[in-house]
Amino acid sequence: MMKELNGLEKQEKAIYGKELNLIKRDIEKLLYTKRAEIEKEELDTKLADEKIDITLTPRPKIAGGIHPLSRTLDELICILANLGFSIEEGPHIENEYNNFSALNIPESHPARQEHDTFYFKSDKRLLRTHTSPVQIRVMNREAPPIRIIAPGATYRCDDDSTHSPMFHQIEGLVVDKEVSMANLKSIIRKLLANFFGEKISIRFRPSYFPFTEPSAEVDIGFSKIDNTLKLGGNSEWLEVLGCGIVNPIVLENCGIDSKKFSGFAFGLGVERFAMLKYGISDLRMFYENDYRWLKHYNFRPAGFPNLLRGK
Ligand code: PHE
Repeated sequence: MMKELNGLEKQEKAIYGKELNLIKRDIEKLLYTKRAEIEKEELDTKLADEKIDITLTPRPKIAGGIHPLSRTLDELICILANLGFSIEEGPHIENEYNNFSALNIPESHPARQEHDTFYFKSDKRLLRTHTSPVQIRVMNREAPPIRIIAPGATYRCDDDSTHSPMFHQIEGLVVDKEVSMANLKSIIRKLLANFFGEKISIRFRPSYFPFTEPSAEVDIGFSKIDNTLKLGGNSEWLEVLGCGIVNPIVLENCGIDSKKFSGFAFGLGVERFAMLKYGISDLRMFYENDYRWLKHYNFRPAGFPNLLRGK
């Protein structure tokens, strides 16, 4: 009808147009009311259908937890970050050069056999036996001063109550002018005191690593009561880390002038730290995923460890 308006005389057009507009408005109003009615009806049926029975008992909430190993890693990283170390990572699949040769472990060296390496059949690649190859990667890439830690998984064909084929280490490396054994000892003592508290027994024991000279291993005193470990005393010792002054040969292998720079390095066993702190007597428990064990040893997810709460 609106279209037909065009064919009309001017006066008629005005009258018809006005009438038509009124009708149009009426129709629109009716449509609007009907739509609102339909929508309300739909909502009412939906509300009736989806009624919630608030008298039902709720489903139990099962919260996950932080595994004690993750917690230990987080705590150690937090402490070391506070001591000014930045974090580096390296690949778990390494080549022989980074894992051994560059670290002054030549092919004939007994240390290569001692590491019980997992080799790949197809080529000479391997699963890294320690986090020390990350030292090589960093020194090849960056000039001193270097102050890094490298946390991560490491692999050795070994399996008993204090060894697992997959375990975790945190490597530490400092390269600068005039770095000394005294610096190394002080950092290690601070780390241990922060993690375990001041009252533990620590033993620095002379040792040998091809990549550090002199080298030492650090043991923590403990006793075993009813199959749980208790910190302190000197009845038994657990080795928790190896360390030393970076062998100048290793610096030179990475193009660092060993007359100008010196360094110290350490590699700590994360599982061992966790065992001593939480009294866990068998390292393999970490990987068995026994639900009862996990429930006992895990941590509530809330809150990231910091120096005050993390101890
Ligand atoms: N890489 C050594 C190991 O796994 C530990 C270590 C690191 C020792 C750095 C000295 C310096 O046994």
